[in-house]
Amino acid sequence: MKRQGLSGVHADKLFEQVYDYLLEGIRRGDWKTHDKLPSVRALALELNVHRLTVFKAYQLLKQNGYVYVKDKSGYFVQPSGLLPESSWNDPIVSAYVQKSHLSEIHQVQATYQFSKALIDPNLLPNLYFSEYVKRVFDLYPKVLGTYSTTQGDQELREALCRYYTERFRFYLTPDELMVTSGSQEAIDLVARVLVKPRDVVLLERPTYSPAIDVFLRQGAKIVPVEIRQHGYDLEQVERLMQTHKPRLFYLNPTFHNPTGFTVPREQRKRLVELAEKYQCLLIEDDPCRDLYFAQEPPLPFFAYDTSGYVIYLRSFSKYVAPGLGIGTIACRPSLMAYLLSAKALSDSGTPLLNQKIFLHYFFSERMQQHLQKLRTALAIRRDIMEEELAATDWEWSRPTGGFNLWIKLPDSTPMEKLLGTCVEQSITFVPGTICDPQREFATWIRLSYSYLNEQQLREGIRKFVGQVRVLMGAADA
Ligand SMILES: Cc1ncc(COP(=O)(O)O)c(C=O)c1O
Repeated sequence: MKRQGLSGVHADKLFEQVYDYLLEGIRRGDWKTHDKLPSVRALALELNVHRLTVFKAYQLLKQNGYVYVKDKSGYFVQPSGLLPESSWNDPIVSAYVQKSHLSEIHQVQATYQFSKALIDPNLLPNLYFSEYVKRVFDLYPKVLGTYSTTQGDQELREALCRYYTERFRFYLTPDELMVTSGSQEAIDLVARVLVKPRDVVLLERPTYSPAIDVFLRQGAKIVPVEIRQHGYDLEQVERLMQTHKPRLFYLNPTFHNPTGFTVPREQRKRLVELAEKYQCLLIEDDPCRDLYFAQEPPLPFFAYDTSGYVIYLRSFSKYVAPGLGIGTIACRPSLMAYLLSAKALSDSGTPLLNQKIFLHYFFSERMQQHLQKLRTALAIRRDIMEEELAATDWEWSRPTGGFNLWIKLPDSTPMEKLLGTCVEQSITFVPGTICDPQREFATWIRLSYSYLNEQQLREGIRKFVGQVRVLMGAADA
C-alpha cells in the first residue's frame, strides 16, 4: 500500500486504515496463522506514518483477537476466529470527524502515563464515595427515574451560585449557570453556538490541544496569542483584536495547560476592557484554579466583567471526582438560551445522579480536607519530577499549581523517534506540536506529574531521560 492510499478520504482515521490494511493482508493470506507481522518501526517506515499510528492499529487488532504478542518479540497472527467482512473503503463507515490529537495519545495503554493530566485515582477519597451515593438514594429515591433539566439540577445551581459569589464575587443567578458534563462539553457547546466557518478565534500558543481541534472543526480561522510566564503582551492582543476582529478569545489563564502559567491580576481587568472595546468574547476555561501549591491565584476574569463579555467554564472533573464529570458554564441569559438549545440537541441534561452526588460531596467538610491533602500530594510529585530532571539541561518554568511541566528538550531531539520508542517502552507524553495552533514547538513536550504514584514517577522519568539520552547519543554518533 502506498502513502497515498492512507492519506485520502479517511485521513482523520489513519490508525484505522492501518488496522484495515493489516486485516486485509491476514484475510488474503499474506500473513498466515502464527506468522510474524512487520514490526511497528518497519511498517511505519513502509507506510510513511507515525509509529504511534501503527502501534494503535496493532493494539486494536490485539484487542479484537486477530493478533497476539509473543515474548515481547512482536505481533503474530492469531489462529483465526471469524474475520469480519472487508470494510476497506466502505462508504458506510466513513465519517466527518475532526481528529482529536490528545485522545489518540490517551488511547495508548502504557505503564508510565506522563500524557494524562489527571489525578492519580489513589489520591481520591474512594472509600467514602459510597456514603454519598447512599445518601443521595436515601434523599432522592427516584433519582434514576428521571432526567435532569437541560440546564442542570436547580438545587446544585443554587448552591454553586452561592459558592461562586462568596469565593469569587460573581453575583450570578441560577439562570446564568448551566451544568455540563465537564469542560470539554462546555468548550464544544460554546464553539458550536458562537463560531461559524471563517470566524476568527484567538487561541493561546501553546494551548489545550482539544480546544484547537474543536475550533478547527467549526471551520474557524485561528490566530495565535503568545502566552508567557507573566501573561500576554496586551499590545499584541489589542493589535490582533483591532486587525482581525475575532469572534472570541479562548483562554486558560490560571495554571494554564500545558505551561502552568497564570495571567497576573493587572492583566485580567485590562483584557476584559479590551474585550468590551473590540466586542470579542472571552472564553475563560478554569479547571485547575483550586490546585495551587502556595498562593491562591487572582480572581477569574469573569469577576471583572460587567457587560457580559466573559463566559466562564469551570470543570470539577480534575480533582473532585473525574468519574462524575461535572462542569459549569456561567454567562449572561441571552447567550444561555442558545447554549441550552445546543445542549438539548446533545444530551438533554447531565445525568442527575452525578449532579446530586457531586452536590453532597463537593460541599462537605471532607471535600475541603481532601483538597488540602491533594495540593500537598501534587506539590510533592511536582518536586519529584523536577528532582529527577535536575540532572538534564532541559528547560522549564516551575509551575505553582496544576498538573504539568512544559519542557524544552534540546533542539536536535528527534521527536517522532522519541515518541515511537517511548511508546515501545510503555511511556507516553504529549508532544508540543499538538498544543500549538501553528504546529510548531517541535522540541517541547508536556509531562504530567499528577497521574503516577511517587515510585512510578521516579522510575518513569529515569527511563524517559535514558531514552532521550540514547536517542541523542545515536543522533550525535
Ligand atoms: C484547559 C482544559 N480545559 C478543559 C479540559 C477538559 O475538562 P473535563 O475533563 O472537565 O472535560 C481540560 C482537561 O484536561 C483542560 O486541561
